[in-house]
Amino acid sequence: GDDLLVLGIETSCDDTAAAVVRSNGDILGQVVSSQADLLAQFGGVAPKMAEEAHAKVIDQVVQQALEEANVKEGDLSAVAVTIGPGLSLCLRVGVSKARKIARNFCLPFVGVHHMEAHALVARLMEKDLQFPFLALLISGGHNLLILAHDLGHYVQLGTTIDDAVGEAYDKVARWLGLDIRKGGGPALEALALEGNADAIKFSIPMKQHKDCNFSYAGLKTQVRLSIQSHKINSAIPISSVNPQERSLRADIAASFQRVAVSHLEERCERAIEWALEIEPTIKCLVVSGGVASNKYVRARLDRLVGRNGLKLVCPPPSLCTDNGVMVAWTGLEHYRLGRFDDPPPADEPEDTV
Ligand code: KG4
Ligand code: ZN
Repeated sequence: GDDLLVLGIETSCDDTAAAVVRSNGDILGQVVSSQADLLAQFGGVAPKMAEEAHAKVIDQVVQQALEEANVKEGDLSAVAVTIGPGLSLCLRVGVSKARKIARNFCLPFVGVHHMEAHALVARLMEKDLQFPFLALLISGGHNLLILAHDLGHYVQLGTTIDDAVGEAYDKVARWLGLDIRKGGGPALEALALEGNADAIKFSIPMKQHKDCNFSYAGLKTQVRLSIQSHKINSAIPISSVNPQERSLRADIAASFQRVAVSHLEERCERAIEWALEIEPTIKCLVVSGGVASNKYVRARLDRLVGRNGLKLVCPPPSLCTDNGVMVAWTGLEHYRLGRFDDPPPADEPEDTV
């Protein structure tokens, strides 16, 4: 029948996630186990360590999602898993698990592109979001502006030529001595609320490039130089500096954030222009990926999109950051159009992926 149930598994970066989604968009079970605090202690994502962390919790995360959903593997219509982009050691943990379930229960298997999942999850929450639409995807590893013509038909209008915006948030948070155990982005967003965004003059990247690409490496350097010239010692946590130094750090955070978002705005404005020329029926800009959970980012993009006569579609924060729901949903969208692999053969060895 039409009532599909799909399990989605995500292990591409530092979250181990699984979810069960129904074709009407109901999220039946959803579990995310984050390793951000573990990785923060070691100064970033160490692939081997991240792989071990995924391997340790994957069985439990999947089982818990199925239990929450009150669904047995045999009730599933298909199993979906992120196959890239991401750290291959990490991806493999999720792919092995998904193939094992698909093999044991003879289920169709859907390999999912992580960034496509960030974009398509918007269609789960916004039932009447039709193709074509424009999407800005902003995460730790990627920045993309995509014109989504149809399921599986995407045109890239812009990408990052160096660092993604989330990576810049993470680095600046570290340099400002923030507690990044729950991620650098949220910590920086919180500190920026205390600061004056006009205090320090950073310049907007790539103003002279009239395209839709992104660059955050230069802005990172501007911030690093400012931090040095103000003699900020990154090793001293923000919790132990005096009020004056705290307000200086907050000013840097707010000034960085303002310019980082101005760059997003500027690229989006041009992308809207380009996209409407190609597809005049576009009505929505989807904004998704971890950085899209930032309230300041959402507010500014909402105003920009409004000025251009479009509607902003931004998933709730739990669906913007990495999660299993987006993978299950994207798998479901492909599955119902017949785009999936047959169940893996019963004699497939467990370590072939
Ligand atoms: O999509 P995501 O969860 O994982 C990747 O695919 O990379 O995005 C993670 C990124 C990190 O850089 C994190 O610092 C950033 O999203 N992020 C934020 C916020 N929440 C997460 N950046 C700014 N403000 C936030 N509130
Ligand atoms: Zn992501």
